[in-house]
Amino acid sequence: MAEKFDAVDVIRTKRDSQRLSDAQIDWVVDAYTRGVVADEQMAALAMAIFLNGMDREEIARWTAAMIESGERMSFARLSRVTTDKHSTGGVGDKITLPLAPLVASFGVAVPQLSGRGLGHTGGTLDKLEAIPGWQASLENARMMEILDEVGAVICAAGSGLAPADKKLYALRDITSTVDCIPLIASSIMSKKIAEGTGALVLDVKVGSGAFMKTQDDARELARTMVDLGTDAGVRTVALLTDMSRPLGRTVGNALEVRESVEVLAGGGPADVVDLTVALASEMLRLADVEVTEDDLRGALADGRAMDTWKAMIRAQGGDPDAPLPTAAHTHDVVAEHDGVLTELDALAVGVASWRLGAGRARKEDPVQTGAGIEIHVEPGRRVTAGTPLMTLHTDIPELFERSLESLDGGYTIDPDAAEGTGARGDVVLERLG
Ligand code: URA
Repeated sequence: MAEKFDAVDVIRTKRDSQRLSDAQIDWVVDAYTRGVVADEQMAALAMAIFLNGMDREEIARWTAAMIESGERMSFARLSRVTTDKHSTGGVGDKITLPLAPLVASFGVAVPQLSGRGLGHTGGTLDKLEAIPGWQASLENARMMEILDEVGAVICAAGSGLAPADKKLYALRDITSTVDCIPLIASSIMSKKIAEGTGALVLDVKVGSGAFMKTQDDARELARTMVDLGTDAGVRTVALLTDMSRPLGRTVGNALEVRESVEVLAGGGPADVVDLTVALASEMLRLADVEVTEDDLRGALADGRAMDTWKAMIRAQGGDPDAPLPTAAHTHDVVAEHDGVLTELDALAVGVASWRLGAGRARKEDPVQTGAGIEIHVEPGRRVTAGTPLMTLHTDIPELFERSLESLDGGYTIDPDAAEGTGARGDVVLERLG
């Protein structure tokens, strides 16, 4: 059968800064999924979109075409309403782990279809795989059963959801076209809408460790995604949150699970707890469940969220009480002189952790479960020469050198600064509904 369009004409349209028609978008996304449009042609189109943008209607149509490329799931037969969260990714972002069981402990269903890490940001599935026995892949029927029984499930998104995005995302990754608002928004929202959730809270990260380095760009991405979700009938809100420094005190798979369990036991770092509570209250509000911040903190303190966590981990074959793996080697980074730690850069710590083996460079690479970084001193605190600032963990000691190189210049100890300089302000910067 003759094709409706020629890829070269579609590329030229966008190269010359013109609008793509609905028919062009439908065709090019479908033809790329079928393998009729070649990778090099789609790469050229992605770069043209990166340089010349897409308007709101084009983004909506592109998203719809990516949804159409695969299956649509439905949670309609569940006995509970569903509410979901998506983060645009950051360093030390383990929030899904305490958040899903916390929200589920209030009676709603939280289906978290998650991915693996690529580059300096970690992946939720890689983190959970640090738990002995835990399995990321579930049949749809089993996922529904767990959602009915336990309320929360975190598992791998099936290959049937938005396959066009899967192909395009891998291509963008190797052609420097990831950090483009129309392509990020359509990529994330095509998967979320295809997944069939009724409500969605977006955690849009801002700062050095995030795709969006400025609050203005993050706001534009958030606005685009909220509009796409709302237009598709998904109740959607977004929080812009700080990713200029790592979240919490750990970066790396098993280390982040350990910190998440601390939060579920009523402890943990204040920024992780605050963000978990802020996102949980938005998710529950969208599901029409009235809760106060005190109710949420109470469910962390009294073990209700922990009970749901343990049930969720067991339902996927994991042993929530088993010791977590640790790396074979550690190396302390200490303060060179007295002063106040005024800066700890998220990107530098993320890359350093990745170089220790916590992340992967290509999607088929393995990750080390025990590798990563423990942070001992929060920005704003005074230190003296020799104070341990961070501990690096890895199974391969040869990796310390490259990791230390990426920390070089990634933190500042100012001998003249007052205590408190550089301390974290509110983790939630802005809300868009
Ligand atoms: N996450 C996605 O799923 N897609 C993007 O484009 C960026 C982050």
